[in-house]
Amino acid sequence: MVTLTINDMEVKVPRGTTVLDAARQAGFFIPTFCHEPQLTGFGACRICVVEIPGMRNLPASCVTEVAPGMRVYTESPAVVEARRTILELILANHPLDCLTCEKNGDCRLQDYCFRYGVKSSSFSGARHEYPLEDDNPYIIRDMNKCILCGKCVRTCAQVPGRAVIDYAYRGFNTKIAAPMDTPLGESDCVYCGRCVSVCPVGALSYKRLQGVGRTWELQKKPVTCTFCEAGCQFNLLYKDGKVVGVVTTAPGQGRPLCLKGRLGLELLYVENPQPPQLKKDGVFQPVSWAEALGLEGILEKIAAQKQD
Ligand code: SF4
Ligand code: SF4
Ligand code: SF4
Ligand code: FES
Repeated sequence: MVTLTINDMEVKVPRGTTVLDAARQAGFFIPTFCHEPQLTGFGACRICVVEIPGMRNLPASCVTEVAPGMRVYTESPAVVEARRTILELILANHPLDCLTCEKNGDCRLQDYCFRYGVKSSSFSGARHEYPLEDDNPYIIRDMNKCILCGKCVRTCAQVPGRAVIDYAYRGFNTKIAAPMDTPLGESDCVYCGRCVSVCPVGALSYKRLQGVGRTWELQKKPVTCTFCEAGCQFNLLYKDGKVVGVVTTAPGQGRPLCLKGRLGLELLYVENPQPPQLKKDGVFQPVSWAEALGLEGILEKIAAQKQD
């Protein structure tokens, strides 16, 4: 065990614990964008910085391990100033579209700006004007809202094991993209939705849930898919007592999830679900539920057996 103080409170944690985890276990708040407990450490966004006397800069708490006798300050004036600067830098190139954004009410950028009183940016310069990417029937990507935390990249590579997306270009032009920066609909994406579940802002959203309800109007209830033996966990979204959608859970809960399972649960629980679409010859087309769920052959066999 390692003994340290966090905001002058003595804390004991196992060796190897990060400062972020130690602080959270002790009940202290530290904001995070790029950290996801189930993924490998990244340390890119720097919003989780803390002050540790003796260290030259403010270290990122999510990738800094505790040490005996360490003194940590999670919200000192220097830390707050650094976090405000990071938020202002993000806002300098972010559409303040909260009024109509699907993520409004469940957005970390919004929450942290509120906490640290950041209303606008004192930085000005070029802004991205990426077109909205909605060429596929399942996921909408708005890269103007992306804060480049990289959680979708690591999730896609480490959870479903697809590695469909990655960082592309450099400097100001850095962007999360599919190979050759083609739209997601032209990539090998399997629409598992894992990347959507980890995005801390409104850059990724479910197309089938657009306009269905504000985040505070929707309640989540876990459900286990029984279409195969993997038993993946999804969340049913309820509004006014009715199921209005099915979404993927965060990476730690359950196994890689398939589109078939999500569509099957939509058919089972959602009243009048939108028709499914599958890619044929490289183009998405509406298909029957039997085809989407891989039941066509089975239904034909049952029909043939009934005739016999
Ligand atoms: S991503 Fe967050 S901060 Fe950006 S427009 Fe949407 S709700 Fe607002
Ligand atoms: S939906 Fe799944 S496969 Fe597609 S980019 Fe996201 S994580 Fe990768
Ligand atoms: S799309 Fe979302 S999860 Fe991916 S890098 Fe951008 S903000 Fe992060
Ligand atoms: S959350 Fe620690 S660097 Fe991003």
